[in-house]
Amino acid sequence: MGSAELPRVRCPDCGKEVGPLVGELVCQGCGRRFVAEADVWDLLPASRDAVKVNEDRAHVEAGLPTWRRLFMHKRYWLDWCDADWLPTIVDGRTRRFLEIGGGLCYASALAKAKARDAHVVATDVSPRYLRHHAVRVGQILGAPADVYAAADAEALPFEDAQFDAVYSQVVLYRLPSPERALREIARVLAPGGRYLGIERASPWAGPWHAREARTMRARMESQGVAERPIRYREWASILAESGFAAGCLEPVPGHRVRAAWLRRLGNAVRPIYVAIRLTR
Ligand SMILES: C[S@@+](CC[C@H](N)C(=O)[O-])C[C@H]1O[C@@H](n2cnc3c(N)ncnc32)[C@H](O)[C@@H]1O
Ligand SMILES: [Zn+2]
Repeated sequence: MGSAELPRVRCPDCGKEVGPLVGELVCQGCGRRFVAEADVWDLLPASRDAVKVNEDRAHVEAGLPTWRRLFMHKRYWLDWCDADWLPTIVDGRTRRFLEIGGGLCYASALAKAKARDAHVVATDVSPRYLRHHAVRVGQILGAPADVYAAADAEALPFEDAQFDAVYSQVVLYRLPSPERALREIARVLAPGGRYLGIERASPWAGPWHAREARTMRARMESQGVAERPIRYREWASILAESGFAAGCLEPVPGHRVRAAWLRRLGNAVRPIYVAIRLTR
């Protein structure tokens, strides 16, 4: 693949264009050096909010082995991502794919398997999690991403209009400003490029919403991360504020409950998932 296909980095500290993501890079604006360490690039701003540092700290303990996380905790997600979600944005013509807040980054590996010629960039705010698990997941699934990089979804370290597919899965609800991340996603999408975000929408009935809010607040207090429950209609206003059209939001269809009245009752008491779509 020629370097024309490699995504161009924007310096996370001074905002100057640094060049294609390969070898060793030096920012001509501020002199910062970029090089991949243990297969992971650090493209995070040198100074960042505590919540973002804490997202990485949460992974100090290596905890469960990678394969257990992947095949026990994420088993169904792998299937849905592979069969239902990725095919709507990735195909043989995809040249550059970006995953945001990827965690284990199995979506990047699945995208690489679908589009072998694409340049796949797997990112998360936690360099530790990428090093401990995501790189290994790429090997286990037999399709490593071309690049693993620590990057903040709210300030993507990439130049404008470069990716023809961008994907995120249960990430935006953990950000101080999902609106900002959505604007960043729109900025890095190439003309004709497609974004898909699969997000969690909290139960709409008050007591169940409050219960989820309490669980998340407890996690926020113990780990120092930003996370909050977002209902379907709040997603609609977040999208409107980010400049996305109303039609960008739709519920992810479930298979279990068919009668509409039963489904509405279910949605009142348990979270559903929503798909956010944007085509540039
Ligand atoms: C619930 S996990 C989802 C991981 C993965 N997408 C999946 O579905 O398995 C949320 C992920 O968002 C990441 N994250 C949190 N804040 C972020 C930020 N500001 N920028 C990028 N990623 C972030 C976390 O490190 C974590 O890996
Ligand atoms: Zn710089």
